[in-house]
Amino acid sequence: MVKKAELHVHLEGTATPALVKKLAEKNGADLDPTTFKSDGEFSWTTFWEFLDCYDKAAAAIRSKDDYRLVTYDYLARCAREDVIYVEMFSSPDHAAEAGMSYSDHLEGIAAGIDDAYRDFGIVGRIIVTCVRHLGPEKALRVATAFVNNPHPFVVGFGMGGDETQFHPKDFTAAFNLAQRAGYQTTNHAGEFGGPESIRASLDHLPITRIGHGVRAIEDGELLEEIADRRIPLELCPGSNVSTGLYGDRKLHPFGKIMEAGCVVTLSSDDPPFFATSVGYEYEQAAINYDLGTKALEDITRNAVHAAFCDDDLKERLLASI
Ligand code: ADE
Ligand code: ZN
Repeated sequence: MVKKAELHVHLEGTATPALVKKLAEKNGADLDPTTFKSDGEFSWTTFWEFLDCYDKAAAAIRSKDDYRLVTYDYLARCAREDVIYVEMFSSPDHAAEAGMSYSDHLEGIAAGIDDAYRDFGIVGRIIVTCVRHLGPEKALRVATAFVNNPHPFVVGFGMGGDETQFHPKDFTAAFNLAQRAGYQTTNHAGEFGGPESIRASLDHLPITRIGHGVRAIEDGELLEEIADRRIPLELCPGSNVSTGLYGDRKLHPFGKIMEAGCVVTLSSDDPPFFATSVGYEYEQAAINYDLGTKALEDITRNAVHAAFCDDDLKERLLASI
């Protein structure tokens, strides 16, 4: 089986409805009844409803051991699909909302990464993220906690959330803090914002990768620049189809972006919300964009080269592909 690597997945967004329900029960937490549909799956239709549903589900994750379990459960599923490396977005804001400290949340995730490595040999690393629609002040607070609490598994800083709110320049201070502390950074751009959102992120933030970036396809000059500058794109076709950006996987521009010479990677984003997994993304990319084993392995190599982890680990991962 093709070895796989994932650079774009939100940790709270990996918890299945069953795990969310189990944690809520254990914690005696009342989940918002609108979190689930009658068939038990997460209930949302638009992107903004998805973000809201994500918050409601994340509220069930309340302790260090809950984060350990969510992390371990996800990495165990990935290991079964021959995934060798996962960079996970952690969200201190979601943890704080559920009553947890920055360090408890981090230690829980790190314990899950340790346990999964011990049991399956899969390597996990963490990108600490702020949430764009919560605004620049909260983002700066997350960035400050991030630089003040270094951990060997924490390899970068990022931002998710609703990119139609605020402007990238509002977050320059937070991103510069992370960059000056020696970290690489990535930002969600060109998902629900157009190419101008990607342009603004490149102009105002010290990012070395782009989260999604798929809508660069709408601006030929920008696409060419991204290809020329070898800026890796964290593409998530299944996510984009689920949230309604493209009608189906065939209409998704993954293949065109690849043909334009961009450095592409493949990720699941929030797998149970979008009925996907890293393995399914690779399988569907093979079918819909006509990719053979070599092309799929090259996508994995792209991800390892673009990863924020150290070079020794990259060498080890590349040798195992
Ligand atoms: N948070 C979790 N998933 C997200 C996505 N696809 N876009 C923006 N923010 C997110
Ligand atoms: Zn995302």
